[in-house]
Amino acid sequence: MNLSRRKKSHLFPVLMAASLLFGVLPKAYSQATNFKPGAIWPDNKGVHINAHGGGILYQNGTYYWFGEHKVGGEAGNVAQVGVHAYSSRDLYNWTDEGIALKVSDDKTSDIAKGCILERPKVVYNTKTKKYVMWFHLELLGKGYGAARTGVAIADKVTGPFKFLRSYRPNAGRMPYYPAGTPAAAQINAQHPANKSDVIFMRDFPGGQMARDMTVFVDDDGKAYHVFSSEENNTLHLAELSDDYTSHTGKFVRIYIGQQTEAPALFKNNGKYYMIGSGCTGWAPNPARWFTATSIWGPWTFEGNPCVGAGAQKTFGGQSTHVLPVSGKKNAFIFMADKWAPKDAIDGRHIWLPIVFNGNNIEINWLDEWNLDYFDKQPTQTQPSEKSK
Ligand code: DGJ
Repeated sequence: MNLSRRKKSHLFPVLMAASLLFGVLPKAYSQATNFKPGAIWPDNKGVHINAHGGGILYQNGTYYWFGEHKVGGEAGNVAQVGVHAYSSRDLYNWTDEGIALKVSDDKTSDIAKGCILERPKVVYNTKTKKYVMWFHLELLGKGYGAARTGVAIADKVTGPFKFLRSYRPNAGRMPYYPAGTPAAAQINAQHPANKSDVIFMRDFPGGQMARDMTVFVDDDGKAYHVFSSEENNTLHLAELSDDYTSHTGKFVRIYIGQQTEAPALFKNNGKYYMIGSGCTGWAPNPARWFTATSIWGPWTFEGNPCVGAGAQKTFGGQSTHVLPVSGKKNAFIFMADKWAPKDAIDGRHIWLPIVFNGNNIEINWLDEWNLDYFDKQPTQTQPSEKSK
């Protein structure tokens, strides 16, 4: 350890004691009491939270945030480190829990350092008592061509996660059609009618492409993987096995040929909601939302949930997760990434409350807000007139 570092560590308790005595905590250690969308968000060490394209798992009073660990510069657009974990009991203040899944130094590994590992999501399987992490994986040196999904498991929520495998899901499987699906949609998949269908049939033998993604666990414990497939033209929603570590082969195609990325799924009062984005690389575009009364659809496109200035660019962000707030009714947080591809580590987190307005949802920009916001929302029962 060099002298200047040693000096700092000796000084630290003195500074802490002094600041406690005067009733002021050093900046990095002051307790946050609100969200500031798009601002630097310091963790317990005063470092901007490094969990991009992330998702949150809630367990026994604690939230665990998992996301892509980025490094500075354009080098940060590929995985140099792995998946970073944080914990919090109040959603404002986050403790660095370290790297939950590390990329490998073995260049032949699917998750070799320098691969693209995006949008990790962790769920807990109550039967196996394992934590299961799914993510979008692109193999080292192949750009975005591999379009695989990867899965890892752990005994402890913050890891270490053990990488299991990566693949393209649902090889040799045709989509599942719930009752009520228009016949035309069924015919499309079997007799390719548009560009997306042609790609679907191309990938039918080897498995479907799987890029931007989320995982959703329903009330009955069944888990679903939602991902951008068919060259990002069409979303797939696919059932996971009982242990959550593989696909069962049952899936549906959503919003065929319309290029949806960044899916985030949630459920409120028995209804399913999904928010996603268009497909414009790291640049923001208008968000889009969908509803369904069954997980298998039909999923209805509902327009752009964002309203007001900046709504056409999702306030500079792209969806990554929708977080139900524990202990509050109708309280969901829209989590988005404001990407910084020139200096990836500077990517910002945009968290905004979702407002239920009759049959609609709305997301408005707020410079600052806290969880009390949800208590002030009037209970709306009538559909609003919001234009879509
Ligand atoms: C948009 C996706 O949503 C991101 O996760 C990332 O894959 C970028 N595209 C890469 O351009």
